[in-house]
Amino acid sequence: MPLICENVSLKKHNTFGVAAEARWFAEIQSEQDLVDLFADSKVQDLPLLIIGGGSNMLFTQDVDGLVVWMNNKGITHCEEAESILVTAAAGEVWNDLVNYTVNHGFAGMENLSLIPGTVGASPVQNIGAYGVELDTIFESCKAFEIKTGQFRTFTKSECGFSYRESIFKQELKGRYIITEVTYRLKKSAEINSSYGAIQDELANRGIEHPSIKDISEVVSAIRVSKLPDPSTIGNAGSFFKNPIISISQFRQIQSSFPDIVHYPVGTDKIKLAAGWLIEQCGWKGKIQGNTGTWKNQALVLVNHGNASGKEVFDFSEQIIQSVYARFKVRLEREVNVI
Ligand code: EPU
Repeated sequence: MPLICENVSLKKHNTFGVAAEARWFAEIQSEQDLVDLFADSKVQDLPLLIIGGGSNMLFTQDVDGLVVWMNNKGITHCEEAESILVTAAAGEVWNDLVNYTVNHGFAGMENLSLIPGTVGASPVQNIGAYGVELDTIFESCKAFEIKTGQFRTFTKSECGFSYRESIFKQELKGRYIITEVTYRLKKSAEINSSYGAIQDELANRGIEHPSIKDISEVVSAIRVSKLPDPSTIGNAGSFFKNPIISISQFRQIQSSFPDIVHYPVGTDKIKLAAGWLIEQCGWKGKIQGNTGTWKNQALVLVNHGNASGKEVFDFSEQIIQSVYARFKVRLEREVNVI
């Protein structure tokens, strides 16, 4: 049975590094811990917040309920004819898993190197970076149903993946806790170096035929150069999603802003670069009190020291309003605001 602690600081459990307290807090090290914890009906009735690395949340208040920290560990793999199935416990650090696969020469995760957070959050957020989205390598995940105490496996089609979305953030929010995830990787490397920044960095390094390890190192270098390191400057990566709009709305905006950065999505939608929109409104590198946007990537909000979650939230509201006033596009937060 895991210990339930009272009035626990969450400062070390969120990469923004803002202060907040959990009324109750439990660390989970195994699936059995979950079964034991929720066998108690008093626990089932508490408001619940599941956390992994705390890399995609902003605490604007204390949590008057139970925070469950998924910290179970373990990575295994099994080989099939052409692919490798890698299974990792929810509490594994995402980049440790990427390193495991890269070191074994399994292809598929290298473009997702150095994304902060844990394995359990990867399908919830449907993470993606540098030309690869998680759903291309996702096989299935195992999850604990809080109400029944039963485990269930979700296949890819059952997860309802779309850009930074899944069924776990929508219909099933608060009902299941992901305990492990299985990914289908390739034995023979299919390198994806289509992303401009990857091509530039490979050229800088004089690499013509990159290995999986080269891609992992190049992606890591790009991330380090663009994004602030949460261990020194609190942040949660991209604070907003890149907005997806209709082609007709896009044409209207483009007529006033011909340089607008955009990417087609399917045949009838356009994705805009939120970082560009925010930069155009003059916010890039701006410091306001203890918070601000990152100097190399306006989409990332940072804690310059003692920012409160509320301060960061209010700052993000100003950005949303300013982008809306100029482009008539309403940015949505990607981070979970608590
Ligand atoms: N841009 C600007 N100014 C900025 C930032 C970006 O003009 O301050 C423009 C640039 O023109 C650039 C374009 O926006 O070409 C796209 O920028 P970038 O390549 O940095 O990617 P992004 O769209 O801003 C997304 C993900 C990141 C992921 C990168 C790389 C989202 C919300 N964010 O950012 O994911 O690392 O692509 O693939 O989809 C995260 O989710 O936390 C995250 C960091």
